[in-house]
Amino acid sequence: EDPVREARFQARVDAEEKIEPNDWMPEGYRKTLVRQIAQHAHSEIVGMHPEGNWITRAPSLKRKAALLAKVQDEGGHGAYLYAAAETLGVSREELVEQLLNGKQKYSSIFNYPTLSWADMGIIGWLVDGAAIMNQIPLCRCSYGPYARAMIRICKEESFHQRQGYEIMVTLCRDGTPEQKAMAQEALNRWWWPVLMMFGPSDKDSQHTDKSMRWKIKRFTNDELRQKFVDATVPQGHYLGLTFPDADLKLNEETGHWEFGEIDWAEFKRVIAGDGPCNRQRMKQRKDATENGVWVREAALAYAEKRKARRDA
Ligand code: ACO
Repeated sequence: EDPVREARFQARVDAEEKIEPNDWMPEGYRKTLVRQIAQHAHSEIVGMHPEGNWITRAPSLKRKAALLAKVQDEGGHGAYLYAAAETLGVSREELVEQLLNGKQKYSSIFNYPTLSWADMGIIGWLVDGAAIMNQIPLCRCSYGPYARAMIRICKEESFHQRQGYEIMVTLCRDGTPEQKAMAQEALNRWWWPVLMMFGPSDKDSQHTDKSMRWKIKRFTNDELRQKFVDATVPQGHYLGLTFPDADLKLNEETGHWEFGEIDWAEFKRVIAGDGPCNRQRMKQRKDATENGVWVREAALAYAEKRKARRDA
């Protein structure tokens, strides 16, 4: 601990200066960033699975091309975020290892199954919509490399959100009654898990106070969740859909949509590894890592050969 340096660091953060990799930073700040950025990167990578499941079954060439591009973007976001984490002195290999041994988390939302084509619409509209709500403020994160990575990621996320909502419009406004019912059924399954993406309520959040002081987070979990509900409910109504929440109502005075109690026991179960697809997702990641060993070995051998040739 070094109170003088810490005070100087906090003054820079308060003055909205960006902290860069070679700057002095408190150990807790570094740890918090590694934890959050790694968890974010893992989420992008694991997040490829639920939608990857539908690429071969997309209903048209246009839908397939858009879905393929989106899933590839997610892989790119993961790579980008691992690189941002590496500026904090950890290696990508270490981070992947921590995902595989369960020491680091990924977003709860990617432990739910994708059962119908409407889920592709819902994921774009709601999951990417929630991601944007959470990530736009991260473009102003005090840590420079993370903030800069988020700018490009948010641009791509907004394309993802639009393509998802457009699927929903097609199903709900132009579609058959069966297609609309499929969209409603998907909304019923996804709504509550999406609200859980924002993390525990403020009274239970362990990291928010510090992260706000360090300007890593700019809003609390509950603040972002409320912003998301306020933005999303009218979009659902435009689609002619209903939300699976009997307590959802507009408070005319505050202008906010009030909503029912989240099932926090479910949230805890899912992040502890016992959601509907946790085992399947982790197995897919382990298999992918093992099946990629020969590629990494070959790339390394090739790089060494080239270097030897250059040095000769
Ligand atoms: N899924 C899994 N774990 C979660 C979730 C969630 N939805 N929400 C919170 N947690 C975990 C936290 O990581 C923390 O556990 P840890 O100490 O082992 O890391 C614990 O629950 C307590 O939560 P908080 O104290 O509120 O944690 P934090 O301040 O980090 O806030 C949040 C959580 C809002 C998710 C934050 O980390 C964040 O903004 N992350 C960046 C965005 C991101 O990761 N998005 C991923 C999904 S979107 C996408 O990839 C398309």
